[in-house]
Amino acid sequence: MAASKKKRTFDLNKIPAHIAIIMDGNGRWAEKRGLSRSVGHREGAKAVREIVEEAYDIGVKYLTVFAFSSENWSRPKEEVDELMRLYLEYLKNAENETSDKDVRVRIIGSRQGLSEEIVQQIQKVEQRTIDKKRMNLIIALNYGGRQDIVQAVKKIVDDVENGVIEKNMITDNVFGRKLLTEEIPDPDLLIRTSGEMRLSNFLIWQCAYTEFYFTPVLWPDFKKKHFHDAILEYQNRSRRFGGVK
Ligand code: IPE
Ligand code: IPE
Ligand code: MG
Repeated sequence: MAASKKKRTFDLNKIPAHIAIIMDGNGRWAEKRGLSRSVGHREGAKAVREIVEEAYDIGVKYLTVFAFSSENWSRPKEEVDELMRLYLEYLKNAENETSDKDVRVRIIGSRQGLSEEIVQQIQKVEQRTIDKKRMNLIIALNYGGRQDIVQAVKKIVDDVENGVIEKNMITDNVFGRKLLTEEIPDPDLLIRTSGEMRLSNFLIWQCAYTEFYFTPVLWPDFKKKHFHDAILEYQNRSRRFGGVK
């Protein structure tokens, strides 16, 4: 069958409820072409749109994308500035692009260090989409898994000190609800592009039983068909959660 006619071969009735993506490889994509890393980030932003649309169409309930890590501030200032420009643009467009869609947009991560303009745009898009139901698009921006765990610990300590809960009431469930992901179910499938095989501080608590899928494809090249391949592989995995099949 010609590649262009390649059909979806996965089962539409068994779509992972929550897919998380580490969108990596923008810089290398650009460098390979003798272009600046910024061009790679711009191409990467286009790739996000295609995957968000497809996730929506096939019925993914939660899609979480890693846009900027707590550690990405260590990059050259001009690269960080360009990324922030792109996030602002993306958030502004998100409102229009999702206006005809049933998508709730949420941003997880620290607001500290983000510009006032970005923070306002985050509040705006979260507020405007709060009642949408079909899909949750969760953007991890200025997000770090360890930082999230630390802030959750502080909330739990506060609750214990204020007598809201007792120490022996702390379970993994109770703790999980103090994380920025709150009631969002754990990811079923985690995709990382660009060949790197690590979490880089992404959803480290939530991925305890997540299926990992690594692909050498660089993020700007990651298209619908690659997304389908990842879902198909997920559907062929055997999840046991410590039990037996
Ligand atoms: C992912 O691409 C985007 C961000 C981390 C913001 P990279 O910029 O990490 O691309 P590589 O890994 O250098 O190729
Ligand atoms: C992880 O990619 C962060 C994002 C994709 C936003 P990095 O490129 O920052 O990760 P490392 O440095 O290779 O681990
Ligand atoms: Mg990278």
